Amino acid sequence: MANGIFITGTDTGVGKTIVAAILAYSFKRQYIDFGYIKPMESGIPDDDYLARRSDAARVKKAGALSESFAEIVPYTFPEPLAPLLAARRSGMEITGDKLINTIRNLIHPQRRTIIEGAGGLLAPLCEDFLVLDLIKELEFPALVVSRTALGSINHTLLTLDRLRREDIPILGVIANHTTQAPDVAEKTFIKQLTEFDPVTIMGELPYNPDLQTDSPDWEQLATHIDIKTLLRQSQTTAAPQ
Ligand SMILES: Nc1ncnc2c1ncn2[C@@H]1O[C@H](COP(=O)(O)OP(=O)(O)OP(=O)(O)O)[C@@H](O)[C@H]1O
Ligand SMILES: [Mg+2]
Repeated sequence: MANGIFITGTDTGVGKTIVAAILAYSFKRQYIDFGYIKPMESGIPDDDYLARRSDAARVKKAGALSESFAEIVPYTFPEPLAPLLAARRSGMEITGDKLINTIRNLIHPQRRTIIEGAGGLLAPLCEDFLVLDLIKELEFPALVVSRTALGSINHTLLTLDRLRREDIPILGVIANHTTQAPDVAEKTFIKQLTEFDPVTIMGELPYNPDLQTDSPDWEQLATHIDIKTLLRQSQTTAAPQ
């Protein structure tokens, strides 16, 4: 098992990058040697957007990473579409094998690596190749970021069920409140989820308007995630390299 954390989620826009940025900030503060890889990112029209507004930029800044953007996000596509469709429409052909090799070359085995998927667990990355296949190939344990709005119990249970069926170790769920005024479904999300699934809840992020700005208070946001347990769990699921 690899030395790292694969951040997946129940959907696109659920907060995977926010969680990656919080972890990156915390690891940096704890002098933990780590890297972050976003294998494929769509919706990157130019270098300026990549450097200022991409997932890669957000996590690079939060974790003060010295790697170049090419080392963090090897494949970018201009259109905001699932990677396979975005690649096809930009005339690129990337096979699953090529993607795996690229990512393996970017991983430093002695370091902890945070990898962020694209969209949800079954989002298509390459021909015949989903996010799920990348997690399996890399042998990373998965951290699931879930929205808490109505419908999220279903999405989260489906995601956890599929991870277990594929024997992918699950580090836990982070419940992320992405709307300002939580309704009863959102307030009871964790209670309902844990009634049906024994998964560990690694954190619950409140809605935070600060996240729309360039410099959120990562320190404060980190208090909502059990980073100590996450680190311990990701170490115990990682066999010696
Ligand atoms: N707890 C929160 N409070 C307020 N806004 C949030 C919160 N979590 C996420 N957001 C906002 O929602 C948007 C989507 O979050 P994020 O980029 O982390 O999603 P993602 O899962 O990484 O999406 P993708 O699949 O595109 O990589 C961002 O603008 C982010 O600032
Ligand atoms: Mg993201």
